[in-house]
Parts: sequence; C-alpha cells; structure tokens
Amino acid sequence: MTEKLAVEGGVPVRQKPFPHWPIWDDTEEKLLLEVLHSGDWGALTGTKVQAFERTFADFQQAKHGVCVVNGTAALELALRAVGVGPGDEVITTPYTFIATANAVTLIGAIPVFVDIEPETATIDVDQIEEAITPKTKAILPVHIAGQPANMDGILAIAQKHHLRVVEDACQSWGAEWRGQRVGALGDLGTFSFQASKNITAGEGGIIVTNDDQLADLCWSLHNVGRRKGGLWYEHVRQGGNYRMTEWQGAILLAQLERADDLARRRQQNAAYLAEALQSIPGIEPLKVDPRVTRHAWHLFIFRYKREAFGGLPRHEFIAALEAEGIPCTPGYVPLNESPAVLEGLQQLQPFRSDIPVPRACPVAERLSKDEAVWLPQNLLLGGNREINDIIEAIAKIKRCLK
Ligand SMILES: Cc1ncc(COP(=O)(O)O)c(C=O)c1O
Repeated sequence: MTEKLAVEGGVPVRQKPFPHWPIWDDTEEKLLLEVLHSGDWGALTGTKVQAFERTFADFQQAKHGVCVVNGTAALELALRAVGVGPGDEVITTPYTFIATANAVTLIGAIPVFVDIEPETATIDVDQIEEAITPKTKAILPVHIAGQPANMDGILAIAQKHHLRVVEDACQSWGAEWRGQRVGALGDLGTFSFQASKNITAGEGGIIVTNDDQLADLCWSLHNVGRRKGGLWYEHVRQGGNYRMTEWQGAILLAQLERADDLARRRQQNAAYLAEALQSIPGIEPLKVDPRVTRHAWHLFIFRYKREAFGGLPRHEFIAALEAEGIPCTPGYVPLNESPAVLEGLQQLQPFRSDIPVPRACPVAERLSKDEAVWLPQNLLLGGNREINDIIEAIAKIKRCLK
C-alpha cells in the first residue's frame, strides 16, 4: 500500500496527545488552600509571593526578586527603573514576542531593532554598536526560546558606551550563560509566568537583580510608589499597582519545585531530537552557543528549507506536520515590520519628531517569514516515543513528496 499523508486522508503518525501543559498535583492544591484559609490573599500581607520572590531569585542566582502581574509589566518597570523615559532609544531584537517592543513604546521610548545571529536567533552583537546614538539608554537582549543571548558581548558594549542592560528572560527560567544564570547578569532581568511558560501561574512575572537600590525602586514602582517601611498613604513617586496575588505565589512555589526535573527532561529530549534531525536534509535546528551551559527550551525551533522538500511552502509543511499529530507553528512576525509596533512608534511623535524608521533585519525577516517552525515545550516532556514520532512525521512528509 502506498503511504499517504494525514493531510490527504492518510493515518497520522501520532494519534495520542503530547504531555498536557500545565502540570500540577496536590502540591499546588495544598498551597492554594493554605492561601484560602489564611485570608491573606494579597501579597502585602501574605507570605507566598514573598517566599517565591526569595526562592526564584536564588534559583536565578540573583540577590532580589520583585513579583509583578506579568512579564510585560516586568519589562516596563525594569526599563523605567534604569531610567528609560520618553524619547529615549532602547536597542533590542525584532525576533521576539511583541511585548518586548510594546514595553518600550508604552513608556514613550523607541525600540531600535538590531538583527539576529543566524545560528541562535539572539541579537547579533556585531551590529549593536552601529545602532547606538546619543539617545540610546539601554540594551534589551532577549534570551529567545530559552537560549541566552551573547551576554559577554552585550555587557562589554554596555560598559563601553555607559548603557544599562535589561535582560528579557521571559522565556529563560534557569538558563545559564557560562555557568551563570540569566536575569542578573545585566542590571535587571524579567521573567514571565504566563500560561504557556515552563513555570506558570496562568499569568505572572518577576524582575530580578543584584542591585539593592534597583530592587527597592522596582518594589516601589510596582506598589503605587510606596516606600519600603513607609506609611500606607506615603507615595514617594508615581507608580502603578502591579502586585501579584497570593494565589499566583502559591502556584509558582509549587511549580518551582518540579522545574529542575522538567528542565532536565526537556534538555535530554531536545538534544536527542536535534541529533536525529541531522539525518533529514532541509531541517536545521537552531544551534546552541557553546557558552550556553543551560538552555531553558521554551521552544524547539528549526529552520525548514523548502528546497529540500520539493519547494513545498512552509505553511503547507506545517499543516502536514500538524495533521500527522505534531503541534507546531511558524512563530513570530518580525517586529521591525509589525503594523502594531509601527503604530506604537507613530504615537510617540509628541516626544520625538525624528523617530527613526526601523531598519531592515534580513536574518530575522527570513527566519520569521519563510523558515522557522516552532515546537512548543510540552512536546519535549515525553519520552523517546514522543520524540521518535516527531522525527517520523517529518521523515514521512519528506518520503511522500518524492
Ligand atoms: C520574550 C518575551 N517577552 C515578554 C513576554 C511578555 O510576558 P507576559 O505575556 O507575561 O506579559 C513574553 C511572553 O509572553 C515573551 O515570550
């Protein structure tokens, strides 16, 4: 019998779902009930958010943690804390979730996009210096998919040009650059606990830092401008209410307990998958920089080269792979071309009449528009069987195209 693709009515390679996300058990339940019965549901009187701030800061090898409502808010506050304001420029990457750029424009500043390295999809350090102007205040590298950006290069440039560094580590819990966990390598780092994330409370975020003053400032900014140890109605600066609830704190404490085990499983499966995909021409996983000593594997991203698949367009490859039972997506649009980002920039006219037009970013554009295929992190939480099904589904598509 001739083999038939599932998208054309054949039998899918995988007929069972991949491990469900999120994972929880009675650890979450017990901690949630403790919050319920305590009657302390807000972080200012409760104990869970504070406990999580300490534990997560330790986990990231940082001195301080300040929990907030989500990763976007964490970025906004971190940027404000390092002094980014209306009209300032922030160097970042176009290959990231739109929240990275929105956090910049929402505080009146301008994201300046620098293209990515082809191998890792993190910001290309060799192109940062030419993007620096007298208006540049900070560099905002993104540790995309769980892989740290080149922090050696970024910190050296920041030091040379007196710039601040905020790490968007929203996808990189536990990730390490040369043995050091990300987040507090620069001035401040941010993490997200949104529903798809490897550690989640449905929503949530945290800012980490080694700097005592910046930690106090972030705490104040997230708590309506209050002062630590100050009076309830004493507001020493303008701030919003970005406080996390105790419910989130409880769930996150439980999630953190199994984070290392799950990270190990993702790492093993990602390594096995990357190795096996080498035998399929036209499927090229992003490389892991040898200085990355721990990758968080929020996404497994590979390049799809249509030339090796008889010219089959990427969207048809993705539809075929999904039909074989493998959830996957094409991922981001490049932010330097995003209509929503361009609209955000337009709205900054009152602060700057000379808003720079986003430069072309050919590497990010090609990856976004033609090549990237993303597998979400829960696909890496099974065993060899699950990974073999991914490999077999791709191999089947290739065979059937011959
Ligand atoms: C790279 C990146 N930055 C920022 C964010 C924003 O986080 P949140 O969705 O928690 O606001 C996310 C995730 O959604 C992200 O992936």
